[in-house]
Amino acid sequence: MILKSTSAFGRWEKAAWRVARVFVARRTRWFVEGHPKLDGQLWLADRKLLYETVRARRPASCFEIGTWKGGGSTLFIAQGLCDNGRGTLHTIEVDEAMAAEARRNYETHLPPLVRHVAFHVGDYRREYAASLAAAGGVDLLLLDGAEDADQTLAQYEFFLPHMRDGSALIVHDWLTDKAQRVKERLEHSSDWRIERVLLPPRSVGCALAVRQRRA
Ligand SMILES: C[S@@+](CC[C@H](N)C(=O)[O-])C[C@H]1O[C@@H](n2cnc3c(N)ncnc32)[C@H](O)[C@@H]1O
Repeated sequence: MILKSTSAFGRWEKAAWRVARVFVARRTRWFVEGHPKLDGQLWLADRKLLYETVRARRPASCFEIGTWKGGGSTLFIAQGLCDNGRGTLHTIEVDEAMAAEARRNYETHLPPLVRHVAFHVGDYRREYAASLAAAGGVDLLLLDGAEDADQTLAQYEFFLPHMRDGSALIVHDWLTDKAQRVKERLEHSSDWRIERVLLPPRSVGCALAVRQRRA
């Protein structure tokens, strides 16, 4: 059984997990289950990559496109920041109802994380302008928005001037249309070193790239 996440399990996997979970280490269980009150995408391997990257790199300013319901990428980045004792994640969702649900769930169920997450809703180009100026740069960026190569490339280009030497860029859905044009850029640019790529069956594809020192 590939450990994805409880949100991604089918009916039989859910039933098997109810039995198997007691034999699974607590930390691994957390990556699989997330928070019981919050739905989240991304699978165990992707969630671990996010959390461990945050713990290892100790970013101060993180930005994300695609909050969804807040129980996936947002949760694992925010928990990493909380465990570091520093840092803010700016996350944006284009769907107003979804964004409101995510914010409400953090206020109700995850109060310790609230000080590490700024929820935004709407157009990232307008909504993020002030936060980017205040942060002075981006230490970690996650792109996980619409399944659209042009949109993801536009997001990459929007953030690029704000990314410093050593900034981390994580792109989810690395093997689908969503990432295709950004993937081409990263693979053919000496400005980026691709440090990790998660592949099926553990992930639908997720890559971590680090911005290289410019001459
Ligand atoms: C794949 S889901 C994100 C999953 C989430 N990161 C998680 O781990 O649970 C993509 C989300 O991006 C949102 N989205 C699409 N285009 C967007 C945009 N331009 N700005 C912000 N959110 C966007 C969608 O409404 C959807 O909720």
